[in-house]
Amino acid sequence: MDNGYFVTPVLTHSATRFVGAATFSALASEPARTKLFDDSRGNTSALTPIVHTRLGQEADLVLVAPATAHLLARYATGMADDLLTTTLLATRSPVIVCPAMHSEMWDHPAVQENLSILASRGVIVVPPAEGRLAGGDVGMGRLADIEAILERVEDVVGSGAASTRRELSGVRVLVSAGGTREPIDPVRFISNRSSGKQGHALAEEAYLRGAEVTLVTASRLGATEGVKVVPVETASEMEEAMMKEAPMADVVIMAAAVADFRVKTPRGEKIKRSDGTPEILLEPTPDILAKLVKCRRSGQVLVGFAAETSDVIERGHEKLVRKGVDILVVNDVSTPGAGFDHDTNAVSILGPGGVVHEVALATKRRVAGVILDRIALELNKRSKTMEKEASS
Ligand code: C5P
Repeated sequence: MDNGYFVTPVLTHSATRFVGAATFSALASEPARTKLFDDSRGNTSALTPIVHTRLGQEADLVLVAPATAHLLARYATGMADDLLTTTLLATRSPVIVCPAMHSEMWDHPAVQENLSILASRGVIVVPPAEGRLAGGDVGMGRLADIEAILERVEDVVGSGAASTRRELSGVRVLVSAGGTREPIDPVRFISNRSSGKQGHALAEEAYLRGAEVTLVTASRLGATEGVKVVPVETASEMEEAMMKEAPMADVVIMAAAVADFRVKTPRGEKIKRSDGTPEILLEPTPDILAKLVKCRRSGQVLVGFAAETSDVIERGHEKLVRKGVDILVVNDVSTPGAGFDHDTNAVSILGPGGVVHEVALATKRRVAGVILDRIALELNKRSKTMEKEASS
């Protein structure tokens, strides 16, 4: 409420044993809901069913705080036996769950497996913290700090991204993400430190802004429901998927860390230690971005990424020109907290004329937002030019 959101509290039966619905109604902007059937008019013989899908359909975000082990299990298996679980199944908006339970329960494989199922479906998890638990116990499992939960909420719907800025509505965005894996033999591969987090954040943010998003990813991270995911492993699989999808895209963002070299002849069988030290011959992988630039559709916006450790701007600009992209995002991977595997990043966004935006250390979601702002501007410029050309 303090951050300016409209809040509808949805209480499970167990929740009402801790705090009553009247307290939540008094504190929130909308009346608290507890049941699938609304008997608020006191006429229990004619219960009015609330459209149980409505809350989920209308929300920009569903936040479950605290999320019990039982709720996580019900959500993971798709049960819909009360208002909260029906809301969760009916929504297509981002969902954040904030688990809270005793340490032993948190550690239980059943809870962890349910969480990974939910995460693989794009549900955002704010993990619990250490501290006092019910019954005088102390340990892992306490509900995350309110600040941490609110920060995640802001990341997801902050600055009105989900609700009001549908600026990419009707735009088809293709994103690549993750570090490719190039096999050496059936059990070993060559890869890099890329996690895919920045690419996935771009896909999620573009989707929230109304775009039709395809994500070609070598990462095992989940994606928001609604994003079309094409999983790949090697550079050549990524090349095939990107070349297939690119002709349909208005925007192509090549955020993947494609391996520059692959093993020339991967072995069909595991290389044995007893056979001595193998010599492995490498060959270059195709430059996917260069190919995409070559066969770009007219009006298509192409965005490349670069990871640098020194002379960041000069090298980034040289790469923008050499690759022929419209926008180049340079990661300064030497900045603490930025780049590979972190949840935060620091980037410089370059256009043909030089630096257009510097983003100091921020969450990858926020960085994605700034990059998409830039892309939206570029698309706008293009449609204005096309309008002018058409009228002259
Ligand atoms: O030249 P460099 O590898 O630093 O360029 C990085 C950019 O090129 C990134 O956008 C990356 O996704 C793309 N790339 C590619 N194919 C490769 C290597 C990099 O598309 N084989």
